[in-house]
Amino acid sequence: MATPQKEIEVDPVFLEKPDEETYDSCAGYDTSTASLTSSINEFVYQHGRRYHTYYGDDKNYLPVDETEQDRLDLHHEVFLGLLDQDLHKAPIDENPQKILDVGTGTGIWAVDIAEKYPSAEVIGTDLTPIQPAWVPPNCKFEIDDAEQEWTYASNSFDLIHMRNLIQGIRDWDKVLKDAYRCTKPGGWIELQEISGHLRCDDGTMKEDNPIKVFLDNLAKAMEKSGRPPAANGAQMKKDLEKAGFVDVQVHIARQPLGPWPKEPTLKQIGAMMLLSSETMFSAYGMVPFTRILGMTEDEASHVCEAAKRGVKNKNYHTYSHYYVVYGRKPE
Ligand SMILES: C[S@@+](CC[C@H](N)C(=O)[O-])C[C@H]1O[C@@H](n2cnc3c(N)ncnc32)[C@H](O)[C@@H]1O
Repeated sequence: MATPQKEIEVDPVFLEKPDEETYDSCAGYDTSTASLTSSINEFVYQHGRRYHTYYGDDKNYLPVDETEQDRLDLHHEVFLGLLDQDLHKAPIDENPQKILDVGTGTGIWAVDIAEKYPSAEVIGTDLTPIQPAWVPPNCKFEIDDAEQEWTYASNSFDLIHMRNLIQGIRDWDKVLKDAYRCTKPGGWIELQEISGHLRCDDGTMKEDNPIKVFLDNLAKAMEKSGRPPAANGAQMKKDLEKAGFVDVQVHIARQPLGPWPKEPTLKQIGAMMLLSSETMFSAYGMVPFTRILGMTEDEASHVCEAAKRGVKNKNYHTYSHYYVVYGRKPE
């Protein structure tokens, strides 16, 4: 596994004791976001957010409203930054014929990959219809639950991509078995996930760090609901190998929380995460904390708000691993 060895160097500005403890806004840091409309018609409102219930209310714990769609599109920019603007790491053919993006969200990756590979028919699937109508002619979207039997032809995809989906799936073995069947011999699967384990190279993270407290609670809730507690590169590799994929590689990038790194790309990614954290913690936390862990709305909100303040705290130099795990179906 290619684990980055060097510590992330902290921008010296963040090493002096700052006058004010928190970033008061994202002004001055380079960020980008996009806004989309949606056509959701089966939903409930909870915690001031809109959730989709077509496949049941215990499928996707994340909201699906415009705020969440903006967050997903912003996170797409983060993922691109983490991969040097690459959409994937798997060494697929130059002229792929078929690509599948499972749990496509707003479809932003599917649209980008369709533009990158005009030779390919790209299909993006999701539980919820929040994808745009105007897309490249070689891209289409389908509403589907990845945990149900896949209806795609065997041996048909050059690349199957699943990003940031870890907690949407209970039975990964079953999903990867379907994915293996539908991948072309010689074709690739690629999983991209953020670790739930908070890291820090300079001792500025203590046990009671509020972001860590948030992540520990989320892992507890996910485990209780029968989902993987958090992404883990070594486990993802094992899962792909168990499904039959070979030549499995694990690439690890680092996603800083806040613009504290000195290196400009990491600083920009950290700034985007600072902006994302405005809604990210409540998006991930409110339903699992109240419904699964039994917290009151106030208690859950307190954990989410504390984590948000944790990202704003200039004195915490924390980051997460971002795992890109890809493997090939043997000829
Ligand atoms: C955090 S979002 C990531 C979206 C997209 N992959 C990206 O990286 O921008 C997770 C998405 O997975 C979808 N999802 C969760 N469980 C799913 C399932 N069982 N089948 C299909 N999609 C699912 C959700 O509806 C949501 O849009």
